Amino acid sequence: MIENNNQIRDSFGSKFGVIAAAAGSAVGLGNIWRFPLVTTQNGGGAFLLLYIGFVILIGIPVMLSEFSIGRRAQLNAFGSFKKLAPGTPWFLVGSLGIITAFAILAFYSTVAGWTLEYFAQAITGKLSHVNDMQKNFADFSSQTYRPLMWQFIIMLVTSVVVFAGIKKGIEKFTKILMPVLAVLILFVAFRSVTLEGAMEGVKYLFVPNWSAVSFKTVLMALGQAAFSLSIGMGTLITYGSYIQKDNHLLRTSTQVAITDTSIAILASLMVIPAIFAFSPGSDVASLSPGPGLVFEVLPDVFKSMPGGSFFSVLFFFLLSVAALTSTISVLEVVVAYLKEELKLSRGMATLIAAVSISVLGVLATLSFGVMKDFTIFEMTVFDLLNYASANIMLTFGALLIVIFVGWRMGKSDFINEISNQGSLKSNLFKGVYFIIRYIAPVAIGIIAIATFFIQGIV
Ligand code: PFF
Repeated sequence: MIENNNQIRDSFGSKFGVIAAAAGSAVGLGNIWRFPLVTTQNGGGAFLLLYIGFVILIGIPVMLSEFSIGRRAQLNAFGSFKKLAPGTPWFLVGSLGIITAFAILAFYSTVAGWTLEYFAQAITGKLSHVNDMQKNFADFSSQTYRPLMWQFIIMLVTSVVVFAGIKKGIEKFTKILMPVLAVLILFVAFRSVTLEGAMEGVKYLFVPNWSAVSFKTVLMALGQAAFSLSIGMGTLITYGSYIQKDNHLLRTSTQVAITDTSIAILASLMVIPAIFAFSPGSDVASLSPGPGLVFEVLPDVFKSMPGGSFFSVLFFFLLSVAALTSTISVLEVVVAYLKEELKLSRGMATLIAAVSISVLGVLATLSFGVMKDFTIFEMTVFDLLNYASANIMLTFGALLIVIFVGWRMGKSDFINEISNQGSLKSNLFKGVYFIIRYIAPVAIGIIAIATFFIQGIV
């Protein structure tokens, strides 16, 4: 245990706890409402191979970099850079992380709130009586109070878990819910692939179609990998600071990445084959990732599926759980910062973080209703937060993090940290460092610049 502010610093109590919490952060709406469609629309197996390549080449090294920064410094994302590179502007990377956390949680809590509404609609049976799913979603999301109420509930539950602390809050919550989530996804995916006609969907998902791959696809694969693994903004620096000194960080990073990728693939098997089985005419290529898929197409699919109302309850429950285990990790970034840098109590830090993020969150939620015509750079507040954080801030964050570890922290400190002061030996350590120092910055750099020019707002 390490002393901090004269208190014993809270930490994860077990290896499984670390994996549950970090995989809980990684597995979220990104896996379920984005990955399946992005994959099918961008070359199926071809996209999948690119994606897996990015996870191995960039995702795991960045995750390991973040864990090692946090565990070495024993501080929040901002404080870690200040401590490891005192008197330099590197703390700005930490500040970028805190701002990104703000932006992500503001729009993510809107969507997380919608999942609760749909869970409620599924459990009360309302969803199975809706005739026009598009209208149902538009009617709900354009309201003022109801979406705000769900967003508020999400922020409240998130705050309660974060307030309870690392071991007694985040670890306990994710240790119970992540296995439940995995079992439910397996169960629903099994139902989906065993439906008649489902195999067409499986084929569409996995058979590589290289002609659909363009440079933009490559950008999307990296953006999706970063968002899905929760890298590039300090979530994993923050969690890393709670990991015990004897944890094998490379192994943990690999396990988290494998879990996240497996769940994304299972989520695709849950979603795409079911759509093919029940709406063979529906053109998967024309669906847009996000609300359309999860809140319009899937409820229709559940309506036609035998036992569909039961599966829709399970589905929206698992979606809410996936969202919540991610929201807590983002809130913790801001709470740890306020607590340690401004020396606030955990309760006060949680309150201030949750209230200030919610103010921005309200604007995101209302982007679908009364504020739908309020645009900045031709985007609603929701779209702007989503675009700026997922496409720009995370990519730049990841770039700066690998440059920090590769060029500032340096080989001996990094290897010392990931080998637990030399007690672990592996030939991989030097290889990962090489990737972090040379390969990852070049690859992420090219993509960061290209993202800016290709889809950029300037
Ligand atoms: N990884 C989450 C998802 O795929 O939905 C989203 C996310 C959570 C992004 C936490 C970033 C983060 F720090």
